[in-house]
Amino acid sequence: MTTAQHKIGSGFTDTSTATEVLHGIDLTGKLALVTGGYSGIGLETTKALAAAGAFVVAPARRRAVAEEALAGIENVEIDELDLGDPESIRTFADRFLATGRRIDMIITSAGVMASPESRVGPGWEAQFGINHLGHFALVNRLWEAVADGARIISVSSRGHHFSPIRWDDIEFTAGYDKWQAYGQAKTANILFAVQLDKFGRDRGIRAFSLHPGRIRTNLIRHLELREMVEAGFMDTEGNMVGDAKTPEQGAATQVWAATSPLLDGMGGLYLQDCDVAEPAPADGTIAGVRDYALDPTEAARLWVLSADRTGVNAFA
Ligand SMILES: NC(=O)c1ccc[n+]([C@@H]2O[C@H](COP(=O)([O-])OP(=O)(O)OC[C@H]3O[C@@H](n4cnc5c(N)ncnc54)[C@H](OP(=O)(O)O)[C@@H]3O)[C@@H](O)[C@H]2O)c1
Repeated sequence: MTTAQHKIGSGFTDTSTATEVLHGIDLTGKLALVTGGYSGIGLETTKALAAAGAFVVAPARRRAVAEEALAGIENVEIDELDLGDPESIRTFADRFLATGRRIDMIITSAGVMASPESRVGPGWEAQFGINHLGHFALVNRLWEAVADGARIISVSSRGHHFSPIRWDDIEFTAGYDKWQAYGQAKTANILFAVQLDKFGRDRGIRAFSLHPGRIRTNLIRHLELREMVEAGFMDTEGNMVGDAKTPEQGAATQVWAATSPLLDGMGGLYLQDCDVAEPAPADGTIAGVRDYALDPTEAARLWVLSADRTGVNAFA
């Protein structure tokens, strides 16, 4: 575990909003790419970054939904991208690269959770494929446009506690478990940031991962109310219980990660509640970040596997 993986005292908390963490930060002239930037915490991320002066590119799986969600917000460009479709990733990246623009921050906020077993692309398990491999291919394809000093923010989850990388059966050929699949994909999001940070450091390009909090969004589309009541997420009326955040609060950590000067000179860290997270306690409590998600050997191994599966590697 890296010794830098400890709170730094940002002055923000679990109730801070994306707008609050951007107070006094002028993003005029900066370009941000936000996947999933038209729903849930991604939508709030797009709004906050654009309000602070950034130009935001929000590639969408469902363009019409994005157009409706982002209507009236200035400095936002919508494009098309399906992270489960390697050809869609390639054509989006090619369109973007052809414009010759530079990217100052990438926030990979798109994701699916606990979806029924399905396959995407050339047969990838869908949660690993969309949440990890799709973003892996996207960032690698866009790498030549990433500006020196940029930040790449990989949106993970405390769900990474549910599973390390299952090296013996990443694709769940021997029986599917939707929460293990989510956990593996979210562990991959963290390991991706660990390895990318190594590659980008020489150019001042730093990568972080994070848990945004627990926020009611469309992410629960694959779950029944009964399951969420049993898991203690909701009451029987469908209201969030416990330490839930609003979408504006849920977007705060990724916006903070992408912009805070307090993180200058750091990278490869897992964040939550607008601060660096603590290591997970040894007693198995689902809090902080697990060792296996920050392990540099695991990160390097996952990179090789992901490059092999996607056929893309900006660092080969
Ligand atoms: N909400 C929480 O409590 C929570 C907790 C921990 C971590 N997270 C993480 O936060 C991130 C954002 O989640 P959210 O809560 O904002 O969920 P959300 O409202 O469902 O947003 C997810 C976004 O991902 C997009 N997406 C899904 N599949 C895609 C694909 N194949 N290609 C391109 N885009 C795709 C969705 O587009 P469509 O609507 O068009 O499918 C949507 O815009 C996820 O990575 C999630 O794991 C959320």
